Amino acid sequence: MAIKPLRKAVLPVAGLGTRFIPATKAMAKEMLPVVDKPLIQYAVEEARAAGIEQFCMITGRGKTALVEHFDVAYELEQVLRERGKTRELEMLSAISVAPGNMNTVRQQTPLGLGHAIWCARAFIGEDPFAILLPDDLVLAETPCTRQLAEVYAETGGSVVAVTEVPREQTSRYGILKVGHDDGRRVEVTGLVEKPRPEDAPSNLSIIGRYVLTADVMKYLAKHERGAGNEVQLTDAMAKTIGEVPFHGLRFEGRRFDCGDKVGFLEAQIAFALKRPDLAPAVRQFLKQYTEGSETA
Ligand code: G1P
Repeated sequence: MAIKPLRKAVLPVAGLGTRFIPATKAMAKEMLPVVDKPLIQYAVEEARAAGIEQFCMITGRGKTALVEHFDVAYELEQVLRERGKTRELEMLSAISVAPGNMNTVRQQTPLGLGHAIWCARAFIGEDPFAILLPDDLVLAETPCTRQLAEVYAETGGSVVAVTEVPREQTSRYGILKVGHDDGRRVEVTGLVEKPRPEDAPSNLSIIGRYVLTADVMKYLAKHERGAGNEVQLTDAMAKTIGEVPFHGLRFEGRRFDCGDKVGFLEAQIAFALKRPDLAPAVRQFLKQYTEGSETA
């Protein structure tokens, strides 16, 4: 059977962002910028770089700015045109998504990541789809979702981005049970959501990047509760093992947990250092701080 092309991405953005209160009291956490771009835009650009054209954001109350962000901003564009700000205008036009390609559905109740994905069932239909959790930001030569898309194009099965974590952190992630491992691509024989270190089948954790076949949806539809009494995506994915090829990919690149304050600050520095217009000044002040002249 021919492998269906990957054209869709689901972006779960219904979370409350409690770890970033007060910043997130009246603002969606996915609108927090790393340097000058909101987290959600990094996710959309990464998906586009993998050939994805259709998006579905799973939103909730207080997330309107995310929808606005991908709309056309007529008044702003008008003012920029009048002022001859071509570069800024180009940045705006790069954001907008083709009409009809940015969909949203509401997850009225926060029942877990698995439930959020299930809310996108009409959008997904029978097609393969990527999931990008915008809190996880990946700095890579080849965008992470594209790396996953390449594995999907070869295997026609599901693939998740993975990285080794210290044993004591397994209870924060979905963890793989590993079969054949070629050092980059690993065969997944089982998946456990947030196991205690002593119960974890490995220390290979899932980061917030997935390419899945629609097979997972029938299991999500059961709404079975797992870790934290939530409907877990990991549990539904685990049930598809054996039905579809399932791999983990040790992606090339660095992942920043932007849901965590230290991870978020680190991402600012790492992304700023990649920017030719900012890197020299950032390097300069970092040097001052690390030499201690700015402390005390
Ligand atoms: C979710 C998933 C988990 C995954 C993690 C990656 O957990 O449930 O399997 O490892 O994202 O960031 P959450 O961070 O929502 O608790």
